[in-house]
Amino acid sequence: MKSITISAPGKLMLLGEHAVVYNRPCIVTAVGQRMYITISELSEDFMELEAVDVNVVGYKKPLKDIGMGEVPKGAKFVEMAVANFKAKYGIQGGIRITTKSEFSSLFGFGSSSASTVCVLKGLASLTETKMSNKELFSLAYKTVLDVQGKGSGFDVAAAIYGGTLYFVTGGTTIEPILVEKLPLVVGYTGVKADTVSLIKSVAEKAVRYPELIDTFYTQIGKMVDTAHTAFKIQDWKHVGEIMNLDQGVLEALGVGSTRLAALIYAARDAGALGAKLSGAGIGDCMIAFVSSEKKKAVEEAITNAGGQVLDVASNVSGVQVEKSI
Ligand code: MEV
Repeated sequence: MKSITISAPGKLMLLGEHAVVYNRPCIVTAVGQRMYITISELSEDFMELEAVDVNVVGYKKPLKDIGMGEVPKGAKFVEMAVANFKAKYGIQGGIRITTKSEFSSLFGFGSSSASTVCVLKGLASLTETKMSNKELFSLAYKTVLDVQGKGSGFDVAAAIYGGTLYFVTGGTTIEPILVEKLPLVVGYTGVKADTVSLIKSVAEKAVRYPELIDTFYTQIGKMVDTAHTAFKIQDWKHVGEIMNLDQGVLEALGVGSTRLAALIYAARDAGALGAKLSGAGIGDCMIAFVSSEKKKAVEEAITNAGGQVLDVASNVSGVQVEKSI
């Protein structure tokens, strides 16, 4: 019986959140905390799932019923990924899936998209199905939309391609930005953000103020394009300034919070080149770009303001096969 282990990285949004849901670009980096998924063949036509990190233990369903009926919260993305793969390529026999995450699903690093990508890549390898990264992106993005209804797909792209990417909604553009290392500091607020409800709350504002909000999205898009040029020449001071501008517009969209602001201002006051929220807002993480001389002071300032500095590598490699037996 064959068995395969796949890993995919988490992600951090650097610039462009929310606007990227509405056909604007963003910049995202893959972070060095990975999701690991092992898929083994089974003789019976069942899907078995052990995902202890998200409280799924001993879950078992006939493959013919996959994607139907009750699905526990922690199994939704994995089961939908299996259903979508089965519908497109077919699966013979059964499978046992075990997931193991290096990061807490609380951080907003994108555990759902990373596990979706791992499952699809793993099934393709196990069934010897040829699947390009583009095809993998489409099926993984479809899976994410099937489960959560909304999203730009930037997290799926980061899990597949890794590195740092310039990305436009739905993967219409996915372009690697070649940088060696990002001068990034990450602070966790201790508060979980609910991406889907925050996308909804911004969308509701857009119903009341369509032109205003659209102008904000356009401004964010322009900031991302300006920062993209600065990224290519690694002009971090310029990128930092744009991060501060972007934060201002995100506040206007209503996704700032006292908690995020405390960490962001602490980082700026300690000499960060720029600081902003990362992701949907309200909670999860804030990020700062810092010079090497100011790194320690900024990290201390974030900690003193009640944040948790997360020691994560950025710009890491995308989905990969770890083991195949
Ligand atoms: C959430 O991490 C970022 C959003 O832009 C949603 C998305 O792009 O899918 C709010």
